[in-house]
Parts: sequence; C-alpha cells; structure tokens
Amino acid sequence: MLDKSNIKTLKPLPRHVAIIMDGNGRWARRRFMPRIMGHRQGAKTVKEIVTATRELNIPYLTLYAFSKENWSRPAEEVNALMDLLYEYLQQELDELLGKRIRLRAIGEIEALPPKVYDMLLETMEKTAKNYEMQLILALSYGGRSEIIEAAKRFARKCMEGHLSPDDLDEGSFRSFMYAGDVPDPDLIIRTSGEKRLSNFLLFQAAYSELYITSTLWPDFDKQEFLKALNDYRRRERRFGMTSEQILLRCTSSES
Ligand code: IPE
Ligand code: IPE
Ligand code: MG
Repeated sequence: MLDKSNIKTLKPLPRHVAIIMDGNGRWARRRFMPRIMGHRQGAKTVKEIVTATRELNIPYLTLYAFSKENWSRPAEEVNALMDLLYEYLQQELDELLGKRIRLRAIGEIEALPPKVYDMLLETMEKTAKNYEMQLILALSYGGRSEIIEAAKRFARKCMEGHLSPDDLDEGSFRSFMYAGDVPDPDLIIRTSGEKRLSNFLLFQAAYSELYITSTLWPDFDKQEFLKALNDYRRRERRFGMTSEQILLRCTSSES
C-alpha cells in the first residue's frame, strides 16, 4: 500500500473553467421582476467572475452565454439579451485591454444581429494579442452542431484530396472545432441546480469535473466561485486509472 501521508491533498487550480450561467429568469421571478432584470444582474456577475479568474491567474474561462436553443425564446427576451451582449462588449473593451484578456467566441456567431456581430469581431481583433487570459464566450453555441460542422470541414478536406479518413484522430479532429487550441475544461460549473449539460462542450467535457450549485447565476459571486474551485482541488481525477496509479504518478513526478 502506498503511504498517502506525504501527498498534498489540495490539487492545483484548474487551467480552464467553463460555466453554464443559469438561473437569471428565476432570480427575477422571485423578485416579481421581468426576466431581463435577471439577465442584467447576471451581466454584473460575469464582470465579477472574469475579474476573479484573472486575479487567480486561471488562463481560460468559457462562459455559456447563449445557446443555439435559446433562439427559440420569446423575441423580446432574445432581443434584450442581444442588447445586453452589445452593451457588455462596449463597456468592457478597456477593461479587457487593461487586464490583457483576449476575448474569443465559440458558436454560430454569424447568426448574431449584425451590430452585435461587428462589435464582437472588433473586440476579438483588438484583444487578439492579449496573452494573460482567454475569455471565451459561447454564443449561439451548440455542442452537437459544433461536432457536426467539424465533421463536415474534415470531409471537405478529404474530398479536396488534402486529407484521408486515416488522418483523423482525437487530436486532429479538434483542429476542425471552434477553438481547437484551447485545452478541455477541467471544471464545469452550472448554477441554479439543473443537472444537465444543455448541449455545452459535449466533445470537450469528456473528462471535466462537474460542480453544480443551487445558487442562481445573479447571486453567484467570488466567494461561491472560490468554493467551487476548492471543491475541485480536493478531487482525484483518475482518467480511467486506479487511485494507486494516480498516487504513484504524483509521487514520481514530485521526486
Ligand atoms: C440563463 O438564465 C441565461 C440564458 C440562458 C441566456 P435563464 O434565463 O435560463 O434563467 P432560468 O433558467 O429561466 O431561471
Ligand atoms: C443553458 O441554459 C444555456 C445557457 C446558460 C446559455 P438554459 O436555461 O437554456 O438550459 P435548459 O434549457 O434549461 O436546459
Ligand atoms: Mg435556464
């Protein structure tokens, strides 16, 4: 038996945190307010969590801001969300530049209203050379369609004669996805208690640790974020191996 006494129990912080920001509508309903007020409050939480992520030196943060399925919400709510996104990009550009945060997007962003799309491209361009942290917004995003679109891109390369089916493996497939260079999320947080992925990062979430809190997104703050991170740091990620193998790997890399 391995002696566990000299093994540090607290693991490093995750390199990539992805968050399913859920519960804005319920937050508003509990206060007898229109749903959009929940989204407005949720945008404030986004700012707090981005700042905290940067302070903690976590290099990648992906936020699920709008799913492909969210297009089927009432037009009034969709429009309000698009306006909020535009406002966020406009207000945060200086902050992103000052903190050297690169903004990226995953999803069918061409489907966004032109005004929002242009602002998004402008923000991505202006922050493209920032290297301290990457903030990745999932917008009009769907995990299944990301996989299907990647398969189509690969098939086209094959038909053009540049690649053959045998060239495909888990690594090369990523290069056909939205942000293939970004490491898989180590930790996926979902607020508001729902226990599902809702079409988020289906390929990349294969070995992500999941953290679900009943706290609604507008109430999620730095304290709650630290709680989630500490919970993650106490976990043992085994990737299919046994606990003993993991311990052996830790001790040999430490010595
Ligand atoms: C998450 O909050 C925001 C988006 C999906 C855009 P919801 O709007 O889904 O909030 P609930 O789930 O109705 O409370
Ligand atoms: C998931 O939340 C999408 C985002 C957080 C943007 P939803 O509220 O849309 O998820 P479901 O429909 O309850 O699964
Ligand atoms: Mg929801």
